[in-house]
Amino acid sequence: MTDAATTVPLPVSTPPAAAEPAPAPLRTLRRRTLPARWRITLWIILSTMITVLAVGLIGRSIFLAGVEQTANVEIEQEAAEFARFAEDAAAGGLTTAEELLTEYVARQSVHENEVVVAALEGEPIAVAEDTGSRTLDTHASLVNRLLNDTAISGSLDTPTTGPLRWGRMDFTGGGQDGSVLIVQFTQEPRAQVDASFGAIAWVALIGVLLSSGVAWLVAGQILAPVREVYRVARDIGEHDLTARVPVEGSDDIAAVAATFNQMLDRLEAVHATQQRFVDDAGHELRTPITIVRGQLELLSEDPEERAATLRLVSEELDRMSRIVTDLLVLARAEQPDFVRSAACDVATLTLDIEAKAQMLGDRRWQLMEVAEGVVPLDPQRVTQAVLQLAANAVQVTRDGDTIRIGSRFEGEGESRRLRLWVQDTGPGVAPADAERIFDRFTRGDSAGGRRGSGLGLAIVRAITDAHGGSAWVDSVLGEGAAFGIDLPAPDPVATHTPDEGTL
Ligand SMILES: Nc1ncnc2c1ncn2[C@@H]1O[C@H](COP(=O)(O)OP(=O)(O)OP(=O)(O)O)[C@@H](O)[C@H]1O
Ligand SMILES: [Mg+2]
Repeated sequence: MTDAATTVPLPVSTPPAAAEPAPAPLRTLRRRTLPARWRITLWIILSTMITVLAVGLIGRSIFLAGVEQTANVEIEQEAAEFARFAEDAAAGGLTTAEELLTEYVARQSVHENEVVVAALEGEPIAVAEDTGSRTLDTHASLVNRLLNDTAISGSLDTPTTGPLRWGRMDFTGGGQDGSVLIVQFTQEPRAQVDASFGAIAWVALIGVLLSSGVAWLVAGQILAPVREVYRVARDIGEHDLTARVPVEGSDDIAAVAATFNQMLDRLEAVHATQQRFVDDAGHELRTPITIVRGQLELLSEDPEERAATLRLVSEELDRMSRIVTDLLVLARAEQPDFVRSAACDVATLTLDIEAKAQMLGDRRWQLMEVAEGVVPLDPQRVTQAVLQLAANAVQVTRDGDTIRIGSRFEGEGESRRLRLWVQDTGPGVAPADAERIFDRFTRGDSAGGRRGSGLGLAIVRAITDAHGGSAWVDSVLGEGAAFGIDLPAPDPVATHTPDEGTL
């Protein structure tokens, strides 16, 4: 049997859905009405504006602090200059405070926004100021206030003068009290800083507008495939799943489109399979229905003929019922709880299957090998599968013919498999049939005159697929066939093989 045999190991299917990790719970999607392109652009505008604004405000306050510091430095320099002048003057014979102040003010060349006031006994006697708008006359009351202030320096901001910094040096010379008051007006330098930042703000605004335009264009370009996915998803109909998204490039957005297309490929394949399944099921059920209707329409009055018709009708209804049951099994095979695996003693399982198989027909049933060990599997489904194989073997053999059943471990360690098989002495399977007889509603030539529905082997394959295993046939036409299933059995379990393989 094994020589020149036709061995068709069917592809191992994906593991049962029950073993798959549960899908992550969907996050609650917030309702968003603004298109993604707008959202991206607006976020970029917002973040750019916040950055520009922060840089502008921080820059402005740094520069304004610089203006204040410059005013302070000017006042300190002026004070140091006066101290040096007073020393030199004392050496040069200028002794009275009045002489000293008059001489000092006469030599002053003041900066813009600066006023130097010389005062004797608290009264201004000389002033040095720039030719700008701020003069002592306009601020006489301010000068009086600063000359008589208890502090010797400080800053002020009045509506008439604007912000200013001041410093005063008091001294005594020739019995007279003298003072030098230095005032630095900071409104103009501050206004210059504001003007500069006003100009920078315009440039920044143009920059923000430009970057927004670029963001709008780039977002549109990046999101184009997503829009295409949306368009295809919207247009796709229940009966036409042929539309695909054009995939350009190889970035992650292109990957979205490619994945979407792959999903549509799978959906289309599932849809086609279901369609074929429904067509086949309809076709298979139509025949018995036609027969039953035809028989009932011609129902004769003759009791004998009536009995024959009823027997025929009853047989057809039985067949229909079996087809429907098988179809339900195949439909359930798609569901996750189709197989419920549990640790199962293989020797007991093999013996049970053999005992049940004997009920299928009057044949010489032989137990060839019995594997010993514990394997995780669904014993009911596995029994169902092997009994399907046994039922087929019965159907292709005659009374008294030999049918052998066995189980054995193949391979070792992780890749070890449990093999269960049924071997008969029937007509065998033609190589051309070997592959297709496992499909639904497919019957081979060896079916002969028997009217099976062609669902038995499809159920066997569905059960092995759900276990992550495979179904196979090993046959030489005219010399019988061995049908079997291989199931994953990774644990290292001892195997008992009383009769070394005839397969
Ligand atoms: N032991 C076997 N020897 C030879 N051919 C077989 C054997 N078992 C199955 N076949 C072939 O495979 C075909 C499909 O078998 P399958 O069990 O799927 O359907 P069926 O037996 O025809 O109908 P059903 O099992 O649904 O009543 C059969 O029609 C037969 O041609
Ligand atoms: Mg069958």
